[in-house]
Amino acid sequence: MVDTLLAIETSCDETSAAVLKRDGSVPVLSSLVVLSQDVHEVFGGVVPELASRAHLQTLDPVVAKALEAAHTDLDEIDSIAVTAGPGLVGSLLVGVCYAKALAAAGEKKMIGVNHLEGHVFAPLIGDPELAPPFVALLVSGGHTMLLDVPKWGHYRMLGQTRDDAAGEAFDKVAAILDLGYPGGPAVEKLAEKGEDRFHFPRPMLSEGFDFSFSGLKTAVLYAARDSDDLDRDRADIACSFQCAAIDVLVSKAIRAVKETGRETLIISGGVACNETLALAAKDRLGNLARVSVAPARLNTDNAAVIGRAGWFRLEEGTGSDAFLEADPRMPWPGLENA
Ligand code: KG4
Ligand code: ZN
Repeated sequence: MVDTLLAIETSCDETSAAVLKRDGSVPVLSSLVVLSQDVHEVFGGVVPELASRAHLQTLDPVVAKALEAAHTDLDEIDSIAVTAGPGLVGSLLVGVCYAKALAAAGEKKMIGVNHLEGHVFAPLIGDPELAPPFVALLVSGGHTMLLDVPKWGHYRMLGQTRDDAAGEAFDKVAAILDLGYPGGPAVEKLAEKGEDRFHFPRPMLSEGFDFSFSGLKTAVLYAARDSDDLDRDRADIACSFQCAAIDVLVSKAIRAVKETGRETLIISGGVACNETLALAAKDRLGNLARVSVAPARLNTDNAAVIGRAGWFRLEEGTGSDAFLEADPRMPWPGLENA
C-alpha cells in the first residue's frame, strides 16, 4: 500500500516535485513545487542542454521545498514516482537518476511514469469523483490526442495530430506575432481584444479524429506577412487563429463523445489552461456530457499529476526497479490504437 509518495517531473523545462499523502482510500496532494526555467526565453524555445543543467542545479532544492511544504521528510516517504518519458533525454535522466538513488538508499517503492498518462490524471486530483469511462482531449506542447478511456490505465487512441501539436501551434503563432515564448497564454490574452475577422481554415474539421495544425499556422503566417499594419491586425489574427484551433478541437471532442456514448469529457495538458477552450467545450456540449478540467497549475507540466498516475500504477501492482531507464520515446502503458 502507498501512504506517502514523492513525485518528480523533469521531462522538459519545468523542475517539479510534489508530495501526495493517503487520506482514507484516496491520495491527497500535500505540496507541489514547480520551478519554470526561464533561461529558454531568450532563445524562443527550449534548449535541451540548458534544460538538463538547470534540472541538475535545482532538483534537490525543489524536492527539499516540496517535503518541507508537506511537513514531511524523506524517512516518511514510502514511494517515489518519476517521469521516465517521453521527453528530452538529458532532462529525464536527471529526474530518473535522482529517483533511483533515493529509492535505493531508502529502500522505497518506485515507479517510472509515462508523462502523458500523468496529464490524463490531472483532473482527478481536484475532482476525486471523476471516474471512467470518459473521453480525454490531451492537448500539450508536444502532443494532441483524443482518447477513449474505458477505465483508468486503459486508453484507446481515437485520433492524434499528423503534424504540429496544438500547443506547438499556439507557440509558433505567438512567434509569428512577436508575442514571446511560451506563446499559449500570450495568444489567449491578446485574442480577448480581437475579432474572428480572418476566418482561417479549420483543417480536417469533418474528417475522422486526427488533427492537423500546420496549414492553419501557415494561414496565420501569410495573414501576418500580408498585413500592412500588424499592430492593428495582431489581436484579430490571434483571435481568428484561436477560434479556428478551438473549433477543430471541440468539434472533434464532441463527435468522440457522441460516437462513444461517454458522458464525461476531460481536457488536459498545457493547452487546457486556455479558458476559452474549456468554455467552448462546456457551452457546445451542453447537457450531452460533463466537462472536467483541472486548474491551470495542474495542466502544465508538474509533479502532482505524475504522482497521481504513479500512485495508481503502484496500487495496481506495477513498479519499476533499479534498471528503470529514461526513455525519450517511452511507450504509453495501456494505450491501444482504435
Ligand atoms: O503540458 P505542457 O506544460 O508541456 C508539454 O508537455 O508539452 O504544455 C505546454 C504548452 C505550450 O505549448 C503552451 O503554449 C501551451 O501549453 N499553453 C497554452 C496556454 N497555456 C499553456 N496554450 C493555449 N492557451 C493557454 N492559455
Ligand atoms: Zn506535458
